[in-house]
Amino acid sequence: MDRPNLILAVESSCDETAVALYDGRLGLLGHKLYSQEVHSQHGGVVPELASRDHIRYLLPLVKQVLTEANIGLSSIEGIVYTAGPGLVGALLVGAMFARSLAYSLGIPALPVHHMEAHLLAVMLESKQPAFPFVGLLVSGGHTMLVEVKSFGQYQLLGDTLDDAAGEAFDKVAKLLGLGYPGGAALSKLATEGREGKVLLPRPMLNRDNLDFSFSGLKTAVLTVWERSDKSHQTKADIAYEFEQAVVECLIVKSMRALKRCQYKSLVVAGGVSANQMLRSHLQSQATRQQFEVYLPRHEFCTDNAAMVAYTGWAHFQVAEPSDLAVKVRPRWELGEPL
Ligand code: KG4
Ligand code: ZN
Repeated sequence: MDRPNLILAVESSCDETAVALYDGRLGLLGHKLYSQEVHSQHGGVVPELASRDHIRYLLPLVKQVLTEANIGLSSIEGIVYTAGPGLVGALLVGAMFARSLAYSLGIPALPVHHMEAHLLAVMLESKQPAFPFVGLLVSGGHTMLVEVKSFGQYQLLGDTLDDAAGEAFDKVAKLLGLGYPGGAALSKLATEGREGKVLLPRPMLNRDNLDFSFSGLKTAVLTVWERSDKSHQTKADIAYEFEQAVVECLIVKSMRALKRCQYKSLVVAGGVSANQMLRSHLQSQATRQQFEVYLPRHEFCTDNAAMVAYTGWAHFQVAEPSDLAVKVRPRWELGEPL
């Protein structure tokens, strides 16, 4: 059986509408993304508005990607889509779109796990890890350490007990009046912050496990903020110390996971892996502790369809043909069947 090689991918799990084209021989042929703006005025993602924007933007994005890559719809050999985790309405838009298009073209379609796609985004880079490795997945909804023995074999090592790292960034950014989602803005402000002006805890660091907790840190920020003079410099000092605290927790637990698995490769992915402080601290720790760190380029840290396209393509190379059912899972553990 010929395995599909030229893959069209659709990502619509949250507030990014994205489409990509991936070819097993030639690599990534194109990708486009529309970052929905409608949510910023509401201070968070409004699920119904997200679904409506996915409906509005998916088709134009597909047309744009195909035109720019100079590829006709009839050349596509398989379609993949994010089936979870994410917002149910948003996922359904992408799944229905992908399944219907595949049916009309007489080609197969496959669902993709959004976090697996984040984990494998690094495979689109020239510096790729060999299996096995430890994955640190840090996004708006997840903070996980995963043992990746081989493609498709994932073992959860640690998780967050409350807020995800990205969620903590967003909540602190909101508190400091930086808008939503505020991770990148908070990180920018932190570059003006001074060391030692504010002290925040490093939650769970002295517990001998691989779990995280960020809600206490967020509460500590609130306490410091309420007692402060609320000046721009104080904001920057808080942002700096908060970022330091999160980065330290992520790096210490990741190194502990590498040690426990006796692996030498760490893959970091998800929106928070775009964080510059995390990236540079990881690089220097890697040199010092003699492990390799693998990071996607900035635009593939946050949600995108290129990672979904690669992951779907990889599944197509080993997958059994699936039925026509349109199934999505807003809550879906990595490694579990759909
Ligand atoms: O992976 P992603 O795009 O969406 C989810 O699947 O959740 O991650 C989004 C998260 C948001 O919480 C955002 O604030 C955070 O990633 N983020 C950052 C940075 N860029 C995005 N957090 C810290 N520093 C950044 N530079
Ligand atoms: Zn994501």
